[in-house]
Amino acid sequence: MRKLTCKTQNTNSTQILIENGLKDHIFELEQFFGAYRNMVIITDRNVAKHHLVSLKKQLKSFGGTVYGIVIEPGEQSKNLSTLEHIYYELSEYGITRSDAIIALGGGVVGDIAGFAAATYMRGIDFYQVPTSLIAQVDSSVGGKTGVDLTVGKNLVGAFYPAKAVIVDPNYLKTLDDHFLMDGMGEVIKYGCISSSKLFVRLMGYEYQEDLLDDMEDIVTKCLQIKRNVVEEDERESGVRRILNFGHTIGHVIETYFDYGTYTHGEAVAIGMYNITRMSVREGITPEENLKNIAVLLDTYGLPKDLPEMDENRVKHILNNDKKFEGDILNVCVIPKIGVAEIVRVHKDKAFQLFT
Ligand SMILES: NC(=O)c1ccc[n+]([C@@H]2O[C@H](COP(=O)([O-])OP(=O)(O)OC[C@H]3O[C@@H](n4cnc5c(N)ncnc54)[C@H](O)[C@@H]3O)[C@@H](O)[C@H]2O)c1
Repeated sequence: MRKLTCKTQNTNSTQILIENGLKDHIFELEQFFGAYRNMVIITDRNVAKHHLVSLKKQLKSFGGTVYGIVIEPGEQSKNLSTLEHIYYELSEYGITRSDAIIALGGGVVGDIAGFAAATYMRGIDFYQVPTSLIAQVDSSVGGKTGVDLTVGKNLVGAFYPAKAVIVDPNYLKTLDDHFLMDGMGEVIKYGCISSSKLFVRLMGYEYQEDLLDDMEDIVTKCLQIKRNVVEEDERESGVRRILNFGHTIGHVIETYFDYGTYTHGEAVAIGMYNITRMSVREGITPEENLKNIAVLLDTYGLPKDLPEMDENRVKHILNNDKKFEGDILNVCVIPKIGVAEIVRVHKDKAFQLFT
């Protein structure tokens, strides 16, 4: 088993366990789950179908009561009304501050369950069991939790890291191919911002089985990068901004299309390609890097082209971006594959990213 610890100044540290097959050995993790009277698993309908019964049974073996809250799948559930439903169920089950919430699912479940844990009774213990690739390589670590508003993505939230993150790449076997490829968008991001070795490795997979065989390694590499960045800058005032590579454009696309047309990884893919197109134009990035990103996105069936969008609506959405400091937007670019840099872009110029 691979073990990582993510230690930050402001919040508790997170233990990260990664192993193929770990999902069937959760009953052995008494050090985390042994002392709770009540545990609540929050999951979505798709994940529940395959994995809820097993997790519930294993957690019950510690002797407490285990409840399940099942939400509808997809980004459109990551909102205040689902959150209110979760609070309501938690109170129905009589959950108190000495109990725990466990997120079993993708990034949507992790983000909303984490925010529920951060805010219900001002905070109760929280664990993540990520089941999608995005959640395994990215969203389950680093403590960002929250929900979307109709005017923008992730606008309400809190930093609330899980006490432990239990990662089993075997969960990905029931994940739809579309979402596996979608998750590759975030994996490619890690190659772009921090590891040319990972980037080159990703170019070498001809068959999906080979990729899945190597997933424990790939997930560990991505989480090491994320852990290192988060430990240095938990609250995103500096280096953590590099994790947003492709996300400024990506978030606008997701919001513009009401979180329905483009999934997160697809929107980020379009964002990475188009921000790099800009940085090539500005002479920051050599053209060859853009070509390599295009090859990799094509390999994993991810989109590159900006959809047609109305300029005024784009401006309205972009204005709500959390990365603005006054009129200046901090944007991550890559001078070369494996190296990230933050550039400060004036609001007026930021709008040109979409043309
Ligand atoms: N908190 C963070 O730091 C952070 C980082 C990156 C992304 N995110 C957020 O993560 C979300 C995207 O994550 P996502 O792509 O995992 O979305 P998701 O949670 O909607 O999962 C994608 C789909 O896969 C299904 N699914 C997940 N695991 C499965 C499994 N093992 N078997 C079968 N089906 C499964 C889900 O039901 C859903 O339909 C976005 O809301 C994004 O903002 C957060």
